Amino acid sequence: MVTAYDAPSARVATAADVDLILVGDSLAMVVLGYDDTLQVTIEDMAYHTAAVARGEPTAVIVGDLPWLSFHVSVTETVVNAAKLIRAGASSVKLEGGAKRVPMIEAIVAAEIPVMAHVGLTPQSAKVMGGFKIQGREPAAVRQLVDEARQLEAAGCFAVVVEGVPDVVGRLVTEALDIPTIGIGAGPDTDGQVLVYHDIIGLENRFEPRFVRRYDNAFERQVAALTSYAADVRTGAFPSDAETYTASDDLTEALGLYGSTTDGPIGAT
Ligand code: KIV
Repeated sequence: MVTAYDAPSARVATAADVDLILVGDSLAMVVLGYDDTLQVTIEDMAYHTAAVARGEPTAVIVGDLPWLSFHVSVTETVVNAAKLIRAGASSVKLEGGAKRVPMIEAIVAAEIPVMAHVGLTPQSAKVMGGFKIQGREPAAVRQLVDEARQLEAAGCFAVVVEGVPDVVGRLVTEALDIPTIGIGAGPDTDGQVLVYHDIIGLENRFEPRFVRRYDNAFERQVAALTSYAADVRTGAFPSDAETYTASDDLTEALGLYGSTTDGPIGAT
């Protein structure tokens, strides 16, 4: 699974043959410039889900329910999940453990597949005291595994396990029949997910341990734009081949020379 937030990244993910696209609320940080994920709304998520869907990906689209879209009431949760489905997602994801069970059951009852998300849940960063690795104590690990089982029993079709030691990723995976998808959870989960901008190196401000960069898109894009700006400044861009040249008839009718190299435009 990879995140994507717009039509071009959905087309890239499709060409790369990924299985699932997550329109993650990480877009708050990697696309919209916020410091955390708490700033994005269900409307933002629907807007970006629709853009991904217009990229016509073959992968399953998972729409991420943002903070406060599934916390107020069960009814509001289902209505918000439906907004992502109507925008083009075929399933939704929500963060949290056992206390999300009533919301998950209601979404599933509305015929919407749900993916859970446990461990380091970024929407809870303020109560977790920051983006901290979870499951460091035996009791916390037992609770995490138990809550993951409850999420499975509530009807989730998969669960993201984020920011836990490798053994915790393995224990959750062994405890469940549904697939686990890890991010910073070691090699033993059934699948893996990374943020698109981290994979391609467009996000280069932070490099968490669990990220593997497969490109340096930031530097390469800077190089491309630097060359473009230099070419514009020197006049090397646009060339004749990149210019719509007027026909002789038009040039003559306008009283212009055939080419700007013959003299200034408008000269008679
Ligand atoms: O929003 C997101 O990108 C996520 C993944 C990191 C799992 O939730």
